[in-house]
Formats: sequence, structure tokens, C-alpha cells
Amino acid sequence: MRDRKVVLDEFNEFSRIAELGGGQDKIDKQHEQGKLTARERIDVLLDKGTFVEIDKFVIHNCSNFGLDKKKISGDGIVSGYGKIDGRLVYVYAYDFTVLGGSLSRTNANKITKVQRLALKMGAPIIAINDSGGARIQEGVSALAGYGDIFYQNTISSGVIPQISVIMGPCAGGACYSPALTDFIFMVKEKSHMFVTGPDVVKTVTHEDIDKEGLGGAAVHASKSGVAHFVGDTEEDTLMMVRELLSFLPSNNFEECPFANTMDDPMREDESLNDLIPEDPSKPYDMIELIESIVDDGNFFEVHKHFAQNIIVGFAHMAGKTVGIVADQPAFQAGVLDIDSSDKAARFIRFCDCFNIPIVTLEDVPGFLPGCTQEHNGIIRHGAKIVYAYVEATVPKVTLITRKAYGGAYIVLASKNIGTDVNLAYPSAEIAVLGAEGAVNILYRKQTGEERAQTLAEYEKTFSNPYRAAELGYVDEIILPAQTRQKIIQSLDMAQTKNRQNPAKKHGNIPL
Ligand code: HXC
Repeated sequence: MRDRKVVLDEFNEFSRIAELGGGQDKIDKQHEQGKLTARERIDVLLDKGTFVEIDKFVIHNCSNFGLDKKKISGDGIVSGYGKIDGRLVYVYAYDFTVLGGSLSRTNANKITKVQRLALKMGAPIIAINDSGGARIQEGVSALAGYGDIFYQNTISSGVIPQISVIMGPCAGGACYSPALTDFIFMVKEKSHMFVTGPDVVKTVTHEDIDKEGLGGAAVHASKSGVAHFVGDTEEDTLMMVRELLSFLPSNNFEECPFANTMDDPMREDESLNDLIPEDPSKPYDMIELIESIVDDGNFFEVHKHFAQNIIVGFAHMAGKTVGIVADQPAFQAGVLDIDSSDKAARFIRFCDCFNIPIVTLEDVPGFLPGCTQEHNGIIRHGAKIVYAYVEATVPKVTLITRKAYGGAYIVLASKNIGTDVNLAYPSAEIAVLGAEGAVNILYRKQTGEERAQTLAEYEKTFSNPYRAAELGYVDEIILPAQTRQKIIQSLDMAQTKNRQNPAKKHGNIPL
């Protein structure tokens, strides 16, 4: 018979050792670098005291290169489940104090265990990355582990929200797990992602670049579009993860959480009547319109620094989550290009996966012309937006505030590609081309007074929403002050929408 105290002491000691990960000196080093440990990160992320750890005592089974003397309880992953705002989530965090958070076969097994649980229970999963990549001593076993993680990422896509938070290095093939998830968060100057690091880059391409310049948060948030959010600090970043989840359902069968915002759905905003400049070539900030119409002015922007000619993000309207896609006339006149097409299409598809209605606010002069765009495939990329809107079976409401020209008009949730409600301001201009462009093509020889008259005639004919309204392509012309109530009424009307695409294995979106 074993003494109860001895048993308990032994358990407490084993737990204490496991919780120390790679040891106090490694924890101190992590802190010296301004980084939290895996456990501290999970504590900040989850509701206080809700974390339940799984596989705390698991150890790796490799003895190559002296690893048999480096067996640490829990190995390099802290994993389990807990709550965010009282809702179940799964979480795993790479523990950099254990062999640099490198991925062993054992760590991969721990990760895929929580991935499978999250999928089975229908709850979001959050991965906190801080790792030196595949555990070099384990060779192919570690690589195979990544394959298993990627497999689960892909199988779970569209079923549960998957979120990656990069809080340290994330290099090589390891980048592809975050890349397969729905949203990537990075921390300013603390996290890096690249397929090959600065040294390899130098050898292969002779480019001299440091890791921040190659794959820091600023680069991925603004240039590559790999990162959707950037936080100033780790705590800040983890709070943003919590906020994102407040808009999302736990899985593809669940409703989004209702936000009791108390903001009057019928609220009018007279200032919107003056938002759109009389001169169509003058910009205005679409964010002002968005913040005016959503509940409490709270707009959670996604991909804020990338392809700023289009805005995407989440908000509540009458307490319900909506996904907003909006042109930004204040950035490159809101023109559609390769990056903005990719950004919008991916966001639309996310919303559709998780039953989030889509509100499109349109002021678009067209697709960006030029060799760079054509040669890099604007045709292929622009097609993604059409595909995403058509495929989306969620309620879709579009408001044209000003310009809606040409192909860009059609692809941005026009009536003919399956939008449920199409609204327009009296200032809307719906035409194949803007007046200048059209007259240049049709009457290129005209000059002076004659040209001015033709321009005026074209503007009179097309620089308004009435032709489209006559033909039923616009359902209602609304006053800007009433935008909020009109969109909420439209969403309310469309909430019982029951549409399914034809049965198929899956479509073939132009990638
Ligand atoms: C085993 C590793 C490791 C790894 C780091 N360590 N990376 N152990 N496998 N991949 C160990 C170090 O030996 C060290 O152990 C401890 O972790 C901390 O590492 P440091 O180098 O001291 O830390 P730091 O100076 O902060 O540098 C961090 C780092 C660097 C930038 C991540 O360690 C590094 O470059 N590591 C290798 C990265 C890499 O090339 N990984 C393979 C990528 S390819 P001690 O005992 O000294 O504390 C890949 C393929 C995936 O992952 C394919 C998927 C399909």
C-alpha cells in the first residue's frame, strides 16, 4: 500500500517539472527576449482558470544524437481546451523552452489529438506558434508529423474556425499549417515566417535581407497578405484573437453568437447624406460609412494593412454578425486589382463557410489596367471574386454608393451574380465606363464644346442609378441617412434564405 501523501507529493512534483518545460533558465531566456512562455500565453488567451491540459506527461521516443537524455514531460507542446467568453475552444502552443519548440513525432501526435477533438466537438482551434521547425534529430518522423497536422488542418477547413498566432520563429514547411488555417495573427517585431531564412536566401538569390525584412509582421500584414492581424505585444495579439472569436460561430452548423448591443436598428445618420463628395473624382473614407451603420460603430477589420483598396471585416448589425466587403475610394480610388481580389474572395468564402451574411458596399471605378496586373493574372485573380460571390449561399446585400463601372460592377455582388438585395444611393453611377473613358472611345475625334456636350449627355444617361432601377438590377434607391435600417431590413428579410448549390465533390475555383 502506498502512502497517500507520498502519492500526492509525487504527482505534484511531476506536474511541477512538466510545467517548467525546458527549465527555469530557458524560461528566463524567453522572458529576456520579451516573450511569454507557452503556458503564460494560454493563460492570457483563455477565460481565467478554464484551461484543461491534455498529454502533460507525454515524452518523445527518440534517442538519436543524445535525445534520450533530453526527455521532458509534455515535450515541446502545451495542449488542451478551455473557454473564451464561456465558449469551448481547443488550443495548442509550441513551447520554445523545450528544444526550441521543435516539432517531434510526439509533439505532432499531441497536436493532431486536439485537432481531431476540436473537429469532433465542433469548436474553434487556436495554434500558438514559436518553433525552430522540424526536430532535426528525428528526421523524417518529424516531417511526417507536419504532414499529419496539415491533413487535419485541411479536413477541418470550413467546419471549425482555425486560428494561428505566430509569436516567434515559424520557418520552412512549418509555415504551411498556419497558411492552411483561416486567420493568421503576428506580433510586431517578435514573429517571423519564411519558407527559407535569410542565409539560404543570400546563398541562392544573393539578396541581403534580415529576418524582419524577409518575413516580419509588417511584411506579411502589408505586402504578402499572409498575416491578417498584427498586435503590438503578445497580450494585445491574444486579446485580438478573443475579439475575433466573438464574431464567429463555433462550427459550420452553429449560429454566430448574438451580441446584445442595444444599438437601435432604425437609427438614422443625417451626416451620411453629406459623405459622398459631389465631385466623383474626390475620395472619401468608406470606413466612416461602415462605422456609422454597424452596431456601436464597432468594426473589426481583417487584413487592415493589405490591399487597402478593399476593406473586409466583421461587425454586428442588430446584434447579428455580418461580413463586410467594401471598396475604399480613399485608397487608389477603390480600384480592383490582384491583391484586393484575393483578399475579398478569401473573406467571402470564409463568411459563406460559417453562415455569415455578406454586406457589400460598392464604389469601384473598375479593374486596375496595366501590364503588371495583366501579366500577373488579374483575369485569374479577379475571377475568384465572382466565383466566391456566386458560390456563397448566405444572405447577400449590396449597396452602391457611387461608382459601379464595367466588370467590377458585375463581379462585386451585382444582382445578376446572385445577390438577394441590391440597393443604391441617388449618387450611384452604374455604367460600362466612366464618362471620360466612354467618350474617349465613342467620340474620340470630338473636342471643345462638342465634347463637353457629349460628356454631359453621357453623365445624364448613366451617372445615376435610375436606369438600373428601371431594369430591376437595383431593388431600391435609398437615402444615405437610412443606410443602417435599410441594410438591416434586407438582412432580416433574407435570414430564412434556403439555397443550396448543385451536389458536387467540390467546385474548381480559379486559384
Ligand atoms: C532541434 C532545435 C531546432 C530544431 C532549435 N533547436 N531548432 N532542436 N530541432 N529544428 C534547439 C537549439 O539547438 C537550442 O537548443 C534551442 O532549440 C534554442 O535554439 P537557439 O538556436 O539557441 O535559439 P535562437 O537563437 O533564439 O534561434 C532560434 C532559431 C534557430 C532561429 C529557430 O534555433 C534555428 O535557426 N533553428 C533551426 C531552424 C531550422 O532550420 N529548422 C528546420 C526548418 S525546416 P539548446 O539545447 O542549445 O538550448 C522544417 C521542415 C518542415 O522545419 C517541413 C514540413 C513539411
